Amino acid sequence: MFSAHILTLFPEIFPGPLGHSLAGKALENGLWSLKTSQIRDFAKDKHQTVDDTPYGGGAGMVMRADVLDAAITHAHSLLPNAQLIYFTPRGIPFTQKLAHELTQKNLILLCGRYEGVDERLLQTHKPLEISIGDYVLSGGEIAAITLLDSCVRLLPGVMGASESLSEESFSLDGDFAGLLEYPHYTRPPMWNGQEVPDVLLSGHHVDIRNWRLQEAQTTTKTRRPDLWKKFLA
Ligand code: ADE
Repeated sequence: MFSAHILTLFPEIFPGPLGHSLAGKALENGLWSLKTSQIRDFAKDKHQTVDDTPYGGGAGMVMRADVLDAAITHAHSLLPNAQLIYFTPRGIPFTQKLAHELTQKNLILLCGRYEGVDERLLQTHKPLEISIGDYVLSGGEIAAITLLDSCVRLLPGVMGASESLSEESFSLDGDFAGLLEYPHYTRPPMWNGQEVPDVLLSGHHVDIRNWRLQEAQTTTKTRRPDLWKKFLA
């Protein structure tokens, strides 16, 4: 079973959105498991200190390597072969491909706060450092929720119709691979002066598929020229 163990100073954030909808149902049904540990529980002093001022001066606080090391060692004792992940804007960009790969492993997810963690912790444990985008969050927790949400919906049995995976944005294979998703319509057939495209009401599955592919290509070309270039290559 796909298992995730989150190391955080704010365990009450979880499961949060992961306890609802698809991911929440899958969690209830035992298709994956989620555990959190409070990093503060691994502090050694009576004030349960987890951070300290940076050597060399500067703003903010740095999370201590010794405390984080104890938390990671504990998590590894529960999930021996798990992949350790650390969330940081300095990490490799998170992608759909990486989401697929990470569903093949159990995960220990280290969520930093403040200015970050002592570099020696990273040198010692060599986590996979992941960024969810070129902007700065106040901690790794929302990144962890984002990553797990995208992984869990890929697990067998979590999504209903498997074709809804192969035609969505960023799908890895099929005719729609590398393209953004085509637009969707449902009832009523006329709303706010706007009709549903005729082809979708035609019942011609080949025509519908061709129309959707055309729409996916046009959308990708205009909105994401970077993805379009990759698609053509
Ligand atoms: N922590 C702070 N900002 C982040 C980001 N963009 N991605 C992952 N972790 C982060």
